[in-house]
Amino acid sequence: MSTSFQNIKGTFDILPDAYRDGGTRIASSAEWHHVESTIRDVMARFNIEEVRTPIFEPTELVARGIGEHTDIVTKEMFAFERSGTNYVLRPEVTAPVMRAFLQHHLEQRGGVQKLFYIGPCFRAEQPQKGRYRQFHQFGIEIVGADDPRADVEGIAVMMAVYRAFGIDNMTLRINTLGTPDDRAAYVDALRDYLEPHRDELSETSQRRLEKNPLRILDTKLEHEQEIVQDAPRLIAFVDDESRRDYDAAKALLDDIGIDYEEDPFLVRGLDYYTRLTYELESPDLGAQSALAGGGRYDLLAQALGSSDPVPATGFAAGMERLFLAIEAAGTDLPAPPKPDVFIAALGDEAERWVFRTAQTLRAEGLSVALDLKGRSLKAQMKEANRQDAPYTLIIGGNELDAGSAQVKEMASGEQVEVAFEDLAAYLKQRNEIAPQAA
Ligand code: HAM
Repeated sequence: MSTSFQNIKGTFDILPDAYRDGGTRIASSAEWHHVESTIRDVMARFNIEEVRTPIFEPTELVARGIGEHTDIVTKEMFAFERSGTNYVLRPEVTAPVMRAFLQHHLEQRGGVQKLFYIGPCFRAEQPQKGRYRQFHQFGIEIVGADDPRADVEGIAVMMAVYRAFGIDNMTLRINTLGTPDDRAAYVDALRDYLEPHRDELSETSQRRLEKNPLRILDTKLEHEQEIVQDAPRLIAFVDDESRRDYDAAKALLDDIGIDYEEDPFLVRGLDYYTRLTYELESPDLGAQSALAGGGRYDLLAQALGSSDPVPATGFAAGMERLFLAIEAAGTDLPAPPKPDVFIAALGDEAERWVFRTAQTLRAEGLSVALDLKGRSLKAQMKEANRQDAPYTLIIGGNELDAGSAQVKEMASGEQVEVAFEDLAAYLKQRNEIAPQAA
């Protein structure tokens, strides 16, 4: 069987079995499920609550939130228009979460709101290993606290997720961006420093020199990195309060045993950041080495029209890169779930009985596999083997007459006769399945 249609470049299908797409292993749906539920468990331990926002938002929200001159907004948005309104597929979730916070007055719940999300995001980037056009982020936003403890709580939960998968080959880099005024003064100084080097800069960097010179700091070009080495340092422009918070955050990280490197050139690609920012990298990932990134963004709420400032901090992480790191760490993920029992049928009457009984057993909480095509007993047994159910039953006329069947334990080959009315209890006990709520 075949079709001329293919999934769009930079996207991928998640299937019951893991498979390779180019050089990359695409995890199975059971593995995705396991990883997502482990993330949820970690979130629960940090008492962080889930939010789900729409996949598309007005372009203006995203542009105002992330910044008009960022790469994401200028060239990476999947945008469309309908009835005079412009929309984009969300490239990230921080601006949508802040919108939801403001719109629903979540501050009225009292205290600090600690929110997490897991879901797809869209960026029209050049696809490569670890970089997709539809990718998945998990992340958190801690809204309503300007204390460095909130920043470090965010970092702590991020590290806890990776540790839960046995990943420890990672580097956390941190920096402080100070206040927007500090940053503006620094941007001027940086531009003054880079201007005499203009001719040595790439076309992209020359463009950034006008619009967003901070981005030149994380250039990947070696000769530009050399120029940047002697550039003025942002920390020299940072106000006392930001510096105090930065020191406090470092002390908290030391307290809880999280290693970090200070990186004066870490600027991040989104405009909403102030003060503490960070990135988590893995040397196992290749060119797209960022596992996660985040920081404080105290001005986002006002950029979205809030009359009051709302202090907030958080991070987001790529699920696909988490899977790459899990693979590199050699951590096993669970295989797809197997049915508890396979019931084969011989003859029309038995087929009807099996179909009916399967529904009853499932209502009792058992996972039951059966043939749906009226195939031969041989074909059904082959299917039972493929599905690897620990128990198999064959129902024919004799079993229907006797009102009981031989339950075969596949691993030992042992057979036990069980009356139909005891079947559910017997299989549940053998599979150690808890009774279902009525
Ligand atoms: P970001 O650094 O743009 O930050 O993205 C966070 C993570 O998403 C990256 O570190 C990477 O793992 C993953 N990622 C980004 N783009 C792609 C892509 N094209 N393919 C695969 N993975 C990708 C943000 O999105 C901010 N909203 C983070 C944040 C939350 N800041 C505060 N709160």
